[in-house]
Amino acid sequence: AISRRALLAAGAAFGVGGTLMPARTGLARVPAAFEPTQRLSLAAGEMELRLLGPDKPATRIYAYDGDPFRLVRVPRGTRLEARFENRLPEASTVHFHGIRMPNEYDGVPTLTQPVVQPGGSFTYRIPLDDPGTFFFHPHCDETGQSGRGLVGVLLVEDPRDPAFDAEHVLCLKDWRLDDQGGFLPMSEPDGAAKAGTFGATRTVNGRAHLDLAAPAGGDVRLRILNVDSTRIMDIGVEGAEAWLIAIDGHALPPVPMDSLPDGIWRMGPAQRIDVQVRMPAHGGPVTIGDYRASDIFTFATLVAAGQARRPRRKGPLALPPPKLPLPDLKTAEFHSFTLQQATDAAVKDTGLLPDDPLAKALIDSLCVGSTTYWSIAQQSWPTGEARHLPPPLARMEAGKSYRIEIKNETRYPHPVHLHGHAFAVLGSSKGRLPKHFADTVLTQPGEAVEIAFVAAPGDWVFHCHILEHMETGMMGWFRVV
Ligand code: C2O
Ligand code: CU
Repeated sequence: AISRRALLAAGAAFGVGGTLMPARTGLARVPAAFEPTQRLSLAAGEMELRLLGPDKPATRIYAYDGDPFRLVRVPRGTRLEARFENRLPEASTVHFHGIRMPNEYDGVPTLTQPVVQPGGSFTYRIPLDDPGTFFFHPHCDETGQSGRGLVGVLLVEDPRDPAFDAEHVLCLKDWRLDDQGGFLPMSEPDGAAKAGTFGATRTVNGRAHLDLAAPAGGDVRLRILNVDSTRIMDIGVEGAEAWLIAIDGHALPPVPMDSLPDGIWRMGPAQRIDVQVRMPAHGGPVTIGDYRASDIFTFATLVAAGQARRPRRKGPLALPPPKLPLPDLKTAEFHSFTLQQATDAAVKDTGLLPDDPLAKALIDSLCVGSTTYWSIAQQSWPTGEARHLPPPLARMEAGKSYRIEIKNETRYPHPVHLHGHAFAVLGSSKGRLPKHFADTVLTQPGEAVEIAFVAAPGDWVFHCHILEHMETGMMGWFRVV
């Protein structure tokens, strides 16, 4: 147990701007040459949005640049210099999810950068070499900030992609609202310790439903993002032939949607898919939805508008295969990590009562929670250790290949995300996953999923993307040197 005096001293350190940085060992920080080809200003702030409908009270949400689900579209190869400005009433950072990049711009408080205090700024320098559907979000009080809508979409376009007749971006997110448009608590203990605390107001791009124009007989590219904090969705297409053409931005040989079990792709928070829909010659309509039996949500209708540019052809339009480092499975070092339910007791060793205002302030400034329900390899982050930084789950060597087994021994599914890498999903003990590249993979209760990757230098977090699970312990990190 650490003393109240030590906590006060630590608290004083936050006052002078920034978080308490852990002592770093052995990680060289050589700034690479970076010539920005595009500059972006990203100001996080509050705004009003009518989420309950046109006649209902508006909700005070968080957004980047006053633009909910702010869309950034750049060509592959862009060197993006993004100046983040924090106009929120609380500390934040930006994490560009799924992007392979220098560790220092990864946006993780305590590990890669100090938090950006209200009124502060931070410049991210991000090379965008992998084409695909990505997104960005804060890595600080994520249930609160992403829960209030702070999410942006990052599309990295590949000039080699086939030409589609139409393209639509669909951001799926639920909101925890009362009937006056105010926010309900983002997390309830019963949710955090179980499947999560769900929002009842379901939206696509902040609306209840979208009617989208699509040429009859044409090929439509849908970029579907699950940016919800909690909900796992079963995405399906009704009324047209459709193919899964990319997962987490990375192309795979097209998989006919109707060849998937129940014709759906199960997608956890943070996961994305690109789907090609071939509009029927007669025009449709075609429905896209989350067909999870407990709460079906048909969020978009493709409505015929005009004619396709080119004659109908057979089969899908495959995207060019991704160019990613391929792990060498013969020499790969093997690690196994087990996801478990943890007891709440593990983090109560600060000597402070959970409702002590000092404990609360410290916890807020570190962007970590105070309660632990989950663990990875029997370790929870936060651990109650003064700096809230547990030892790494693994130490790795840059450039070396790793095979990681993720064993879900809990009663709930967990979408597990590794920062800074695109990993190969090799397979699942339930045999339900095609081989593909991803940055987040869903693990079902009792399932073991195997991934492999070539380690990139840096300190990278590895966590469940059900944000409450992450904030209550299901997070660890790898040190790659
Ligand atoms: Cu979108 Cu640490 O994650
Ligand atoms: Cu989880």
